[in-house]
Amino acid sequence: MKNIALIGYGVVGHGVVELLSKNADIIAKRVGEPIQLKHILTLRPRVGDPRQELLTQNADDVFGDPEVSIIAECINNLEASYAYCKRALTAGKNYVTASKNLIATYGAELIELSVRNNVSLMFEACVAGGIPLLRPLYKCLSSNRITGVMGIVNGTTNYILTQMKREGRSFPDALRSAQELGYAETDPSADVQGFDACRKLAILLSIAFRRRVHYENIPTEGITAVTDSDIALAERLGYSIKLIAMGKLTKSGQIYARVSPLLIPHGKVLASVDDVFNAVALTTDTAGDLLFYGRGAGAAPSASSVVGDVIDIATNGRYNDPMWHEDSSPLLSVEENTVTLLIRTALSEREKLHRLFPGRIDTDSKLNVGEAAFATRRDGVDKTYVEQGEQKQRSISLIENWYEAVENGEFGYITPEGAEAEIREKLRDAGIEVRATWRIMQAS
Ligand SMILES: NC(=O)c1ccc[n+]([C@@H]2O[C@H](COP(=O)([O-])OP(=O)(O)OC[C@H]3O[C@@H](n4cnc5c(N)ncnc54)[C@H](OP(=O)(O)O)[C@@H]3O)[C@@H](O)[C@H]2O)c1
Repeated sequence: MKNIALIGYGVVGHGVVELLSKNADIIAKRVGEPIQLKHILTLRPRVGDPRQELLTQNADDVFGDPEVSIIAECINNLEASYAYCKRALTAGKNYVTASKNLIATYGAELIELSVRNNVSLMFEACVAGGIPLLRPLYKCLSSNRITGVMGIVNGTTNYILTQMKREGRSFPDALRSAQELGYAETDPSADVQGFDACRKLAILLSIAFRRRVHYENIPTEGITAVTDSDIALAERLGYSIKLIAMGKLTKSGQIYARVSPLLIPHGKVLASVDDVFNAVALTTDTAGDLLFYGRGAGAAPSASSVVGDVIDIATNGRYNDPMWHEDSSPLLSVEENTVTLLIRTALSEREKLHRLFPGRIDTDSKLNVGEAAFATRRDGVDKTYVEQGEQKQRSISLIENWYEAVENGEFGYITPEGAEAEIREKLRDAGIEVRATWRIMQAS
Protein backbone atom coordinates (compact mmCIF):
# COMPACT_ATOMS: atom_id res chain seq x y z
CA MET A 1 0.00 0.00 0.00
CA LYS A 2 1.36 3.38 -1.08
CA ASN A 3 -0.01 6.26 0.94
CA ILE A 4 -0.39 9.65 -0.62
CA ALA A 5 -1.91 12.99 0.37
CA LEU A 6 -3.68 15.63 -1.67
CA ILE A 7 -3.48 19.38 -1.09
CA GLY A 8 -6.26 21.42 -2.69
CA TYR A 9 -9.76 20.18 -3.35
CA GLY A 10 -10.98 22.37 -6.21
CA VAL A 11 -11.53 21.43 -9.85
CA VAL A 12 -8.30 19.48 -10.33
CA GLY A 13 -8.25 18.13 -6.75
CA HIS A 14 -11.72 16.62 -7.22
CA GLY A 15 -10.58 15.16 -10.54
CA VAL A 16 -7.65 13.46 -8.82
CA VAL A 17 -9.87 11.96 -6.11
CA GLU A 18 -12.33 10.68 -8.73
CA LEU A 19 -9.62 9.15 -10.89
CA LEU A 20 -7.86 7.42 -7.98
CA SER A 21 -11.18 5.83 -7.14
CA LYS A 22 -12.49 5.12 -10.66
CA ASN A 23 -9.31 3.44 -11.90
CA ALA A 24 -8.04 2.09 -8.56
CA ASP A 25 -7.78 -1.43 -10.00
CA ILE A 26 -5.57 -0.62 -12.97
CA ILE A 27 -3.50 1.83 -10.95
CA ALA A 28 -2.81 -0.87 -8.33
CA LYS A 29 -1.80 -3.31 -11.08
CA ARG A 30 0.59 -0.80 -12.60
CA VAL A 31 2.17 0.19 -9.31
CA GLY A 32 2.18 -3.33 -7.92
CA GLU A 33 0.25 -2.23 -4.84
CA PRO A 34 -2.82 -0.07 -4.19
CA ILE A 35 -2.48 3.67 -3.90
CA GLN A 36 -4.32 4.97 -0.90
CA LEU A 37 -5.35 8.58 -0.49
CA LYS A 38 -4.82 9.17 3.21
CA HIS A 39 -5.39 12.92 3.66
CA ILE A 40 -6.91 15.81 1.73
CA LEU A 41 -5.67 19.17 3.00
CA THR A 42 -8.22 21.93 2.37
CA LEU A 43 -8.51 25.55 3.39
CA ARG A 44 -12.12 25.36 4.44
CA PRO A 45 -14.00 22.49 6.07
CA ARG A 46 -16.57 20.91 3.77
CA VAL A 47 -19.55 19.73 5.72
CA GLY A 48 -21.29 16.76 4.18
CA ASP A 49 -18.48 15.91 1.77
CA PRO A 50 -18.49 12.15 1.05
CA ARG A 51 -14.76 12.01 1.84
CA GLN A 52 -15.13 13.77 5.16
CA GLU A 53 -12.88 11.32 7.01
CA LEU A 54 -9.93 12.26 4.76
CA LEU A 55 -10.32 16.03 5.03
CA THR A 56 -8.12 18.12 7.28
CA GLN A 57 -7.24 21.79 7.64
CA ASN A 58 -4.10 20.99 9.57
CA ALA A 59 -0.99 20.77 7.38
CA ASP A 60 0.85 18.82 10.09
CA ASP A 61 -1.48 15.87 9.46
CA VAL A 62 0.05 15.63 5.98
CA PHE A 63 3.66 16.62 6.54
CA GLY A 64 3.96 14.87 9.89
CA ASP A 65 2.63 11.54 8.63
CA PRO A 66 5.63 9.23 8.05
CA GLU A 67 3.46 6.89 5.96
CA VAL A 68 2.82 9.56 3.33
CA SER A 69 5.61 9.48 0.77
CA ILE A 70 3.95 11.38 -2.12
CA ILE A 71 2.02 14.63 -1.98
CA ALA A 72 -0.09 15.82 -4.93
CA GLU A 73 -0.84 19.52 -4.79
CA CYS A 74 -3.50 21.32 -6.85
CA ILE A 75 -4.00 24.73 -5.30
CA ASN A 76 -4.29 28.21 -6.73
CA ASN A 77 -2.05 30.16 -4.37
CA LEU A 78 1.55 30.62 -5.47
CA GLU A 79 3.14 31.42 -2.12
CA ALA A 80 1.25 28.62 -0.35
CA SER A 81 2.32 26.17 -3.10
CA TYR A 82 5.91 27.31 -2.68
CA ALA A 83 5.82 26.85 1.09
CA TYR A 84 4.18 23.40 0.82
CA CYS A 85 6.60 22.25 -1.85
CA LYS A 86 9.69 23.32 0.07
CA ARG A 87 8.37 21.75 3.23
CA ALA A 88 7.62 18.47 1.46
CA LEU A 89 10.95 18.20 -0.35
CA THR A 90 12.89 19.12 2.79
CA ALA A 91 10.97 16.47 4.72
CA GLY A 92 11.96 13.87 2.10
CA LYS A 93 8.53 13.60 0.50
CA ASN A 94 7.96 13.44 -3.26
CA TYR A 95 5.89 16.27 -4.67
CA VAL A 96 3.56 16.44 -7.67
CA THR A 97 2.08 19.80 -8.58
CA ALA A 98 -0.38 21.21 -11.11
CA SER A 99 0.68 24.79 -10.38
CA LYS A 100 2.40 26.32 -13.43
CA ASN A 101 2.93 29.52 -11.46
CA LEU A 102 4.98 27.58 -8.96
CA ILE A 103 7.19 25.91 -11.56
CA ALA A 104 7.56 28.97 -13.80
CA THR A 105 8.52 31.09 -10.80
CA TYR A 106 10.45 28.79 -8.47
CA GLY A 107 11.02 25.71 -10.64
CA ALA A 108 14.82 25.92 -10.86
CA GLU A 109 15.26 26.35 -7.11
CA LEU A 110 12.77 23.61 -6.25
CA ILE A 111 14.20 21.09 -8.69
CA GLU A 112 17.60 21.70 -7.12
CA LEU A 113 16.10 21.18 -3.68
CA SER A 114 14.56 17.89 -4.82
CA VAL A 115 17.93 16.74 -6.16
CA ARG A 116 19.63 17.60 -2.87
CA ASN A 117 17.02 15.72 -0.87
CA ASN A 118 16.88 12.80 -3.25
CA VAL A 119 13.15 13.05 -3.84
CA SER A 120 11.06 13.74 -6.92
CA LEU A 121 9.32 16.88 -8.09
CA MET A 122 6.95 16.33 -11.01
CA PHE A 123 4.60 18.70 -12.80
CA GLU A 124 3.19 17.22 -16.02
CA ALA A 125 -0.21 18.91 -15.48
CA CYS A 126 1.34 22.38 -15.49
CA VAL A 127 1.51 22.68 -19.28
CA ALA A 128 -1.31 21.64 -21.60
CA GLY A 129 -3.31 19.83 -18.87
CA GLY A 130 -4.00 16.29 -20.02
CA ILE A 131 -1.56 16.20 -22.94
CA PRO A 132 1.56 14.16 -22.15
CA LEU A 133 4.11 16.75 -23.18
CA LEU A 134 6.78 17.53 -20.59
CA ARG A 135 7.87 13.93 -20.05
CA PRO A 136 8.12 13.16 -23.79
CA LEU A 137 9.99 16.43 -24.27
CA TYR A 138 12.42 15.74 -21.46
CA LYS A 139 12.77 11.97 -21.65
CA CYS A 140 11.74 10.50 -24.99
CA LEU A 141 13.35 13.29 -27.00
CA SER A 142 16.48 13.63 -24.89
CA SER A 143 18.70 12.53 -27.80
CA ASN A 144 17.35 15.36 -29.97
CA ARG A 145 18.29 18.97 -30.35
CA ILE A 146 15.02 20.82 -30.09
CA THR A 147 15.05 24.02 -32.08
CA GLY A 148 11.46 25.17 -32.01
CA VAL A 149 8.36 25.07 -29.84
CA MET A 150 5.12 26.55 -31.04
CA GLY A 151 1.63 26.08 -29.80
CA ILE A 152 -1.74 26.94 -28.43
CA VAL A 153 -1.47 26.40 -24.69
CA ASN A 154 -4.42 28.34 -23.34
CA GLY A 155 -7.84 26.79 -23.92
CA THR A 156 -9.83 29.79 -22.71
CA THR A 157 -8.43 32.21 -25.30
CA ASN A 158 -8.66 29.56 -27.98
CA TYR A 159 -12.34 29.11 -27.18
CA ILE A 160 -12.91 32.89 -27.32
CA LEU A 161 -11.14 33.24 -30.68
CA THR A 162 -13.05 30.25 -32.06
CA GLN A 163 -16.36 31.81 -31.01
CA MET A 164 -15.39 35.10 -32.65
CA LYS A 165 -14.49 33.26 -35.84
CA ARG A 166 -17.46 30.90 -36.03
CA GLU A 167 -20.24 33.01 -34.60
CA GLY A 168 -18.91 36.47 -35.47
CA ARG A 169 -19.08 37.39 -31.78
CA SER A 170 -17.27 40.37 -30.34
CA PHE A 171 -14.48 39.78 -27.83
CA PRO A 172 -16.55 40.82 -24.74
CA ASP A 173 -19.43 38.64 -25.92
CA ALA A 174 -17.22 35.59 -26.50
CA LEU A 175 -15.53 36.14 -23.13
CA ARG A 176 -18.92 36.23 -21.41
CA SER A 177 -19.82 32.94 -23.04
CA ALA A 178 -16.49 31.41 -21.88
CA GLN A 179 -17.25 32.55 -18.34
CA GLU A 180 -20.78 31.13 -18.44
CA LEU A 181 -19.39 27.76 -19.51
CA GLY A 182 -16.76 27.81 -16.75
CA TYR A 183 -13.83 28.06 -19.19
CA ALA A 184 -12.83 31.53 -18.02
CA GLU A 185 -12.46 32.79 -14.48
CA THR A 186 -14.36 35.80 -13.12
CA ASP A 187 -11.06 37.65 -13.41
CA PRO A 188 -9.93 36.44 -16.84
CA SER A 189 -6.83 38.64 -17.11
CA ALA A 190 -4.26 35.85 -16.71
CA ASP A 191 -5.77 34.12 -19.72
CA VAL A 192 -6.76 36.95 -22.04
CA GLN A 193 -3.62 38.99 -21.44
CA GLY A 194 -1.45 35.98 -22.24
CA PHE A 195 0.20 35.60 -18.81
CA ASP A 196 -0.94 32.01 -18.38
CA ALA A 197 0.44 31.06 -21.80
CA CYS A 198 3.65 32.91 -21.01
CA ARG A 199 4.29 30.89 -17.83
CA LYS A 200 3.62 27.65 -19.66
CA LEU A 201 5.96 28.69 -22.46
CA ALA A 202 8.71 29.48 -19.94
CA ILE A 203 8.45 25.94 -18.56
CA LEU A 204 8.36 24.37 -22.03
CA LEU A 205 11.37 26.31 -23.29
CA SER A 206 13.37 25.70 -20.13
CA ILE A 207 12.96 21.96 -20.67
CA ALA A 208 13.35 22.08 -24.45
CA PHE A 209 16.51 24.18 -24.39
CA ARG A 210 17.78 22.97 -20.98
CA ARG A 211 18.35 26.45 -19.66
CA ARG A 212 16.13 28.61 -17.61
CA VAL A 213 13.85 30.96 -19.48
CA HIS A 214 12.37 33.54 -17.13
CA TYR A 215 8.74 34.18 -17.91
CA GLU A 216 9.15 37.87 -17.01
CA ASN A 217 11.47 38.23 -20.02
CA ILE A 218 9.07 36.79 -22.59
CA PRO A 219 7.33 39.55 -24.60
CA THR A 220 3.66 38.84 -24.10
CA GLU A 221 0.61 40.20 -25.84
CA GLY A 222 -2.86 38.84 -25.18
CA ILE A 223 -6.00 38.80 -27.30
CA THR A 224 -7.88 41.77 -25.83
CA ALA A 225 -7.16 43.93 -28.87
CA VAL A 226 -8.34 41.36 -31.41
CA THR A 227 -11.64 42.46 -32.91
CA ASP A 228 -14.24 40.48 -34.80
CA SER A 229 -13.36 42.48 -37.93
CA ASP A 230 -9.70 41.50 -37.57
CA ILE A 231 -10.77 37.89 -37.47
CA ALA A 232 -13.11 38.28 -40.45
CA LEU A 233 -10.38 40.02 -42.43
CA ALA A 234 -7.82 37.36 -41.55
CA GLU A 235 -10.25 34.58 -42.48
CA ARG A 236 -10.90 36.15 -45.86
CA LEU A 237 -7.21 36.33 -46.50
CA GLY A 238 -6.84 32.65 -45.60
CA TYR A 239 -5.65 32.85 -42.00
CA SER A 240 -6.94 32.04 -38.52
CA ILE A 241 -5.89 34.25 -35.61
CA LYS A 242 -4.57 32.18 -32.70
CA LEU A 243 -2.84 33.06 -29.45
CA ILE A 244 0.52 31.43 -30.06
CA ALA A 245 3.27 30.73 -27.57
CA MET A 246 6.49 30.18 -29.44
CA GLY A 247 10.19 29.89 -28.90
CA LYS A 248 13.09 29.01 -31.11
CA LEU A 249 16.78 28.48 -30.79
CA THR A 250 18.71 30.49 -33.34
CA LYS A 251 21.79 29.12 -35.12
CA SER A 252 23.94 31.24 -32.85
CA GLY A 253 22.36 29.62 -29.79
CA GLN A 254 20.16 32.51 -28.75
CA ILE A 255 16.59 32.01 -27.66
CA TYR A 256 13.76 33.93 -29.21
CA ALA A 257 10.41 33.70 -27.43
CA ARG A 258 7.08 35.40 -27.65
CA VAL A 259 3.40 35.04 -26.79
CA SER A 260 1.11 36.93 -29.13
CA PRO A 261 -1.78 36.58 -31.53
CA LEU A 262 -0.54 35.20 -34.83
CA LEU A 263 -2.17 34.70 -38.21
CA ILE A 264 -1.86 31.03 -39.11
CA PRO A 265 -2.44 29.99 -42.75
CA HIS A 266 -5.51 27.79 -43.06
CA GLY A 267 -3.52 24.84 -44.35
CA LYS A 268 -1.44 24.60 -41.16
CA VAL A 269 -2.58 22.24 -38.43
CA LEU A 270 -2.55 24.88 -35.69
CA ALA A 271 -5.13 26.90 -37.65
CA SER A 272 -7.69 24.16 -37.14
CA VAL A 273 -7.10 23.63 -33.42
CA ASP A 274 -10.32 25.12 -32.13
CA ASP A 275 -12.41 25.52 -28.98
CA VAL A 276 -10.69 24.65 -25.70
CA PHE A 277 -8.19 22.33 -27.32
CA ASN A 278 -4.43 22.81 -27.04
CA ALA A 279 -1.71 21.77 -29.46
CA VAL A 280 2.03 22.10 -29.30
CA ALA A 281 4.35 21.55 -32.25
CA LEU A 282 8.03 20.75 -31.71
CA THR A 283 10.82 21.05 -34.23
CA THR A 284 13.59 18.56 -33.57
CA ASP A 285 16.75 17.63 -35.45
CA THR A 286 16.18 13.88 -35.36
CA ALA A 287 12.58 12.91 -34.70
CA GLY A 288 11.44 15.62 -37.11
CA ASP A 289 8.37 17.72 -36.52
CA LEU A 290 6.03 16.52 -33.81
CA LEU A 291 2.58 17.57 -32.76
CA PHE A 292 0.91 17.08 -29.37
CA TYR A 293 -2.82 17.69 -29.32
CA GLY A 294 -5.59 17.30 -26.78
CA ARG A 295 -7.41 18.80 -23.85
CA GLY A 296 -5.33 21.42 -22.13
CA ALA A 297 -7.48 21.84 -19.05
CA GLY A 298 -10.39 20.46 -17.07
CA ALA A 299 -10.73 18.20 -14.05
CA ALA A 300 -10.29 14.81 -15.71
CA PRO A 301 -7.50 15.62 -18.21
CA SER A 302 -5.47 17.47 -15.57
CA ALA A 303 -6.03 14.68 -13.07
CA SER A 304 -4.76 12.22 -15.67
CA SER A 305 -1.42 14.03 -15.67
CA VAL A 306 -1.26 14.45 -11.87
CA VAL A 307 -2.04 10.80 -11.19
CA GLY A 308 0.34 9.75 -13.98
CA ASP A 309 3.11 11.56 -12.10
CA VAL A 310 2.11 9.89 -8.82
CA ILE A 311 2.22 6.46 -10.48
CA ASP A 312 5.59 7.21 -12.04
CA ILE A 313 7.09 8.11 -8.68
CA ALA A 314 5.44 5.11 -7.03
CA THR A 315 6.85 2.72 -9.62
CA ASN A 316 10.15 4.26 -10.64
CA GLY A 317 11.12 6.07 -7.48
CA ARG A 318 13.53 8.95 -7.79
CA TYR A 319 12.77 11.32 -10.65
CA ASN A 320 14.71 14.44 -9.97
CA ASP A 321 17.25 15.25 -12.66
CA PRO A 322 18.10 18.91 -12.89
CA MET A 323 15.95 19.62 -15.95
CA TRP A 324 17.52 22.95 -16.81
CA HIS A 325 20.32 25.17 -15.62
CA GLU A 326 20.34 28.83 -14.78
CA ASP A 327 21.17 31.01 -17.77
CA SER A 328 21.71 34.71 -17.68
CA SER A 329 21.88 35.32 -21.45
CA PRO A 330 19.07 37.63 -22.56
CA LEU A 331 16.37 36.53 -24.95
CA LEU A 332 16.69 37.75 -28.51
CA SER A 333 14.71 40.93 -28.98
CA VAL A 334 11.35 40.54 -30.67
CA GLU A 335 12.22 43.48 -32.86
CA GLU A 336 15.12 41.62 -34.42
CA ASN A 337 12.95 38.77 -35.54
CA THR A 338 11.91 38.53 -39.16
CA VAL A 339 8.19 38.91 -39.70
CA THR A 340 5.46 39.64 -42.14
CA LEU A 341 2.76 41.90 -40.77
CA LEU A 342 -0.86 42.40 -41.69
CA ILE A 343 -1.66 46.01 -41.02
CA ARG A 344 -5.00 47.74 -41.05
CA THR A 345 -5.02 51.32 -42.02
CA ALA A 346 -7.29 53.97 -43.49
CA LEU A 347 -7.98 53.60 -47.17
CA SER A 348 -6.55 57.09 -47.62
CA GLU A 349 -3.11 55.77 -46.65
CA ARG A 350 -2.76 53.68 -49.77
CA GLU A 351 -0.57 56.15 -51.65
CA LYS A 352 1.84 56.37 -48.74
CA LEU A 353 1.97 52.59 -48.57
CA HIS A 354 2.61 52.49 -52.27
CA ARG A 355 5.58 54.81 -51.86
CA LEU A 356 6.82 52.94 -48.83
CA PHE A 357 6.83 49.52 -50.46
CA PRO A 358 7.17 50.46 -54.15
CA GLY A 359 5.89 47.93 -56.56
CA ARG A 360 3.82 46.14 -54.00
CA ILE A 361 0.52 47.81 -54.73
CA ASP A 362 -0.73 48.65 -58.16
CA THR A 363 -3.07 51.52 -57.55
CA ASP A 364 -4.71 51.38 -60.94
CA SER A 365 -5.85 47.85 -61.25
CA LYS A 366 -6.37 44.68 -59.40
CA LEU A 367 -2.79 43.64 -59.95
CA ASN A 368 -0.69 43.49 -56.92
CA VAL A 369 2.79 42.11 -56.64
CA GLY A 370 2.69 42.04 -52.87
CA GLU A 371 1.13 39.30 -50.83
CA ALA A 372 -2.29 40.69 -50.24
CA ALA A 373 -4.38 43.74 -50.03
CA PHE A 374 -7.87 44.08 -48.81
CA ALA A 375 -10.42 46.77 -48.14
CA THR A 376 -13.36 46.55 -45.82
CA ARG A 377 -16.36 48.72 -45.23
CA ARG A 378 -16.74 50.37 -41.90
CA ASP A 379 -20.48 50.05 -41.88
CA GLY A 380 -20.10 46.29 -41.68
CA VAL A 381 -21.76 45.66 -45.06
CA ASP A 382 -18.64 44.00 -46.25
CA LYS A 383 -18.22 43.47 -49.92
CA THR A 384 -15.68 40.92 -50.97
CA TYR A 385 -12.85 42.58 -52.76
CA VAL A 386 -10.57 39.64 -52.53
CA GLU A 387 -9.57 37.18 -55.16
CA GLN A 388 -7.21 34.32 -54.69
CA GLY A 389 -4.12 34.02 -56.81
CA GLU A 390 -0.82 32.27 -56.83
CA GLN A 391 2.57 33.84 -56.77
CA LYS A 392 5.83 32.16 -55.94
CA GLN A 393 3.97 29.11 -54.66
CA ARG A 394 2.27 31.14 -52.01
CA SER A 395 -1.37 31.83 -51.93
CA ILE A 396 -1.93 35.52 -52.39
CA SER A 397 -5.05 37.54 -52.25
CA LEU A 398 -5.58 40.17 -54.86
CA ILE A 399 -7.81 43.07 -54.42
CA GLU A 400 -10.34 43.64 -57.10
CA ASN A 401 -11.16 47.22 -57.94
CA TRP A 402 -10.07 48.19 -54.53
CA TYR A 403 -10.00 51.82 -55.51
CA GLU A 404 -13.77 51.49 -55.57
CA ALA A 405 -13.77 50.70 -51.91
CA VAL A 406 -16.25 52.77 -50.05
CA GLU A 407 -15.41 55.97 -48.34
CA ASN A 408 -14.28 55.60 -44.77
CA GLY A 409 -13.24 52.10 -45.63
CA GLU A 410 -10.20 50.44 -44.22
CA PHE A 411 -7.30 48.97 -45.98
CA GLY A 412 -5.51 45.79 -45.02
CA TYR A 413 -2.02 45.19 -46.28
CA ILE A 414 0.53 42.45 -45.81
CA THR A 415 4.01 43.87 -45.62
CA PRO A 416 7.07 42.35 -47.23
CA GLU A 417 9.10 40.11 -44.94
CA GLY A 418 11.68 41.92 -42.86
CA ALA A 419 13.00 42.69 -39.40
CA GLU A 420 10.03 43.68 -37.29
CA ALA A 421 11.72 46.80 -35.95
CA GLU A 422 12.55 48.01 -39.45
CA ILE A 423 9.05 47.51 -40.82
CA ARG A 424 7.48 49.28 -37.85
CA GLU A 425 9.98 52.11 -38.11
CA LYS A 426 9.25 52.54 -41.82
CA LEU A 427 5.53 52.72 -41.17
CA ARG A 428 6.08 55.21 -38.34
CA ASP A 429 8.46 57.39 -40.35
CA ALA A 430 6.05 57.47 -43.28
CA GLY A 431 3.39 58.71 -40.88
CA ILE A 432 1.03 55.88 -41.76
CA GLU A 433 -1.78 55.68 -39.28
CA VAL A 434 -1.80 52.00 -38.39
CA ARG A 435 -5.03 50.88 -36.76
CA ALA A 436 -3.98 47.32 -36.02
CA THR A 437 -0.98 45.13 -36.68
CA TRP A 438 -0.95 41.36 -36.63
CA ARG A 439 2.02 39.09 -37.17
CA ILE A 440 1.76 36.30 -39.71
CA MET A 441 3.24 32.85 -39.24
CA GLN A 442 6.42 32.51 -41.28
CA ALA A 443 6.39 30.01 -44.11
CA SER A 444 9.09 27.82 -42.54
N1 LIG B 1 -8.40 23.88 -13.81
C1 LIG B 1 -7.60 23.35 -14.72
O1 LIG B 1 -8.06 22.87 -15.76
C2 LIG B 1 -6.11 23.30 -14.49
C3 LIG B 1 -5.30 22.62 -15.41
C4 LIG B 1 -3.93 22.52 -15.17
C5 LIG B 1 -3.40 23.13 -14.03
N2 LIG B 1 -4.22 23.80 -13.18
C6 LIG B 1 -3.61 24.38 -11.98
O2 LIG B 1 -4.00 23.56 -10.89
C7 LIG B 1 -4.17 24.37 -9.72
C8 LIG B 1 -5.58 24.18 -9.19
O3 LIG B 1 -6.49 24.61 -10.18
P1 LIG B 1 -8.06 24.42 -9.96
O4 LIG B 1 -8.68 24.77 -11.25
O5 LIG B 1 -8.35 23.10 -9.34
O6 LIG B 1 -8.36 25.59 -8.93
P2 LIG B 1 -9.63 25.79 -8.01
O7 LIG B 1 -10.78 25.01 -8.51
O8 LIG B 1 -9.78 27.25 -7.80
O9 LIG B 1 -9.20 25.11 -6.65
C9 LIG B 1 -8.12 25.55 -5.91
C10 LIG B 1 -8.19 24.93 -4.56
O10 LIG B 1 -7.03 25.31 -3.83
C11 LIG B 1 -7.44 25.41 -2.49
N3 LIG B 1 -6.43 26.17 -1.73
C12 LIG B 1 -6.01 27.43 -1.93
N4 LIG B 1 -5.04 27.74 -1.05
C13 LIG B 1 -4.88 26.65 -0.27
C14 LIG B 1 -4.06 26.36 0.83
N5 LIG B 1 -3.21 27.25 1.33
N6 LIG B 1 -4.14 25.12 1.40
C15 LIG B 1 -5.01 24.20 0.91
N7 LIG B 1 -5.84 24.43 -0.11
C16 LIG B 1 -5.76 25.64 -0.71
C17 LIG B 1 -8.78 26.10 -2.57
O11 LIG B 1 -9.46 25.85 -1.38
P3 LIG B 1 -10.89 26.50 -1.06
O12 LIG B 1 -11.84 25.89 -2.03
O13 LIG B 1 -11.11 26.05 0.32
O14 LIG B 1 -10.71 27.98 -1.22
C18 LIG B 1 -9.40 25.39 -3.76
O15 LIG B 1 -10.12 24.25 -3.38
C19 LIG B 1 -3.86 25.80 -10.13
O16 LIG B 1 -2.53 26.08 -9.82
C20 LIG B 1 -4.07 25.78 -11.65
O17 LIG B 1 -3.28 26.74 -12.29
C21 LIG B 1 -5.55 23.88 -13.36
